[in-house]
Amino acid sequence: MFITFEGGEGSGKTTLIEKLKHTLLEKQYDVLTTREPGGSKVAEKIRSVLLDNKNTEITAHTEALLFAASRAQHLDEVIIPNLDKIILCDRYIDSSFAYQAFGRNLGMEFVQSINSYALKYLPDLTFYIDLDPKTGIDRVKKNRLHKTDRLDMEVQTFHQKVREGYLHISEMFNDRIIVIDGNQTIDAIYQVILDNILRRL
Ligand code: TYD
Repeated sequence: MFITFEGGEGSGKTTLIEKLKHTLLEKQYDVLTTREPGGSKVAEKIRSVLLDNKNTEITAHTEALLFAASRAQHLDEVIIPNLDKIILCDRYIDSSFAYQAFGRNLGMEFVQSINSYALKYLPDLTFYIDLDPKTGIDRVKKNRLHKTDRLDMEVQTFHQKVREGYLHISEMFNDRIIVIDGNQTIDAIYQVILDNILRRL
């Protein structure tokens, strides 16, 4: 089962994925955790180009293509060979819809076309943790371990557009995307997600 986690900055995805992995492993499931951009050696190299806040000249189209390239590599090396396991993936194609199609105004058609390979491998289930961007960014700033990357540095209106994008695609793909209120405690969010996964296993 291929499960992805989506949300704006500071939505707590990483903590949730670790907790879920721990519980599912305890229940004897075969679990694999991974992330985008990255998740394999070459894809992590593309990630470092994308997130380096010195790379201010990357254009919106190049950015979208690099996210798609990292995804293609990650699909071939990590996702496709492990589809028999429970894959918990931190971000996937919906991030490109929200950030590039909506945040960068590139539109769904362009982003879908460059991600046509990934569209053949859509997740079985996607959890979108919805949070007001200001609350999320304040959380990220409080967490001193988090280094501010190129996309974290974007202005508030960009993150607002990303959220609107997520809400839009959650309706478009409501057979697969479950929207979760990110204002709840991490424990409450974790319980909702775990119940949903266990029901489908
Ligand atoms: P990361 O540190 O993994 O973010 P987070 O901890 O918020 O999940 O950085 C990934 C950044 O890349 C994040 O700002 C979202 C962005 N992104 C896109 O813009 N498009 C994409 O397709 C993906 C996968 C990520």
